Amino acid sequence: MADALVLADTHVLPPPRMDGALERLLSTRHSLREFSPRALTIGQAGQLLWAGTAPSAGARYPLSLLLIVGDVEGFSPGVYRYEPGPHRLVQLHVGDVRSALAAAALDQEWLARAPAIIAVAATERRTTQKYGPRGARYVHMEAGHVAQNVLLQATALGLGGAPVGAFDDDAVAKLLRLNRDEQPLYLLPVGRP
Ligand SMILES: Cc1cc2nc3c(=O)[nH]c(=O)nc-3n(C[C@H](O)[C@H](O)[C@H](O)COP(=O)(O)O)c2cc1C
Repeated sequence: MADALVLADTHVLPPPRMDGALERLLSTRHSLREFSPRALTIGQAGQLLWAGTAPSAGARYPLSLLLIVGDVEGFSPGVYRYEPGPHRLVQLHVGDVRSALAAAALDQEWLARAPAIIAVAATERRTTQKYGPRGARYVHMEAGHVAQNVLLQATALGLGGAPVGAFDDDAVAKLLRLNRDEQPLYLLPVGRP
């Protein structure tokens, strides 16, 4: 590695290496909002959900993932809750909610054209019970970890997506059949470029 060039107290860093697998993913990830109409495979959907693993403050694991299916091979359109232990999906609602979700996301119509949307939902109390009000901050941080992992996994699979934070909480909670003490934090529409 070349020596860093030092100018007074300004330190020019050596160029970052770009040749490793992680470096390639980090440099190619970008928000994708236009998707090919092709369906996702069940393997791709499962891989994206698996990638939502992340560190959790105090190992309280306040987050859950839901899969909103529009066009995923082998699945009828609907809302599914992901169970990470057995790595399986439980259907909560039958029917395509993507257009309603796009409307609830302040009319971001591109959401309805994603073959699938992964939602991150939080039971904040799990963490605030242990850490008090500061726990809310931890839960939001954890959602960022989860979303980045899912979006990097999408990039690694040749897919793409974007993180969506602009939506009406109550409308999204209702559409996703969330539990009473759960709130939606992030929507991650994903698909093929
Ligand atoms: C917390 C957060 C909320 C966001 N919400 C939205 C959103 O509601 N709609 C959207 O199209 N993009 C949303 N984005 C994506 C940003 O617009 C995008 O990351 C930014 O323009 C940088 O582009 P890049 O992701 O390609 O690097 C959000 C990003 C973050 C981090």
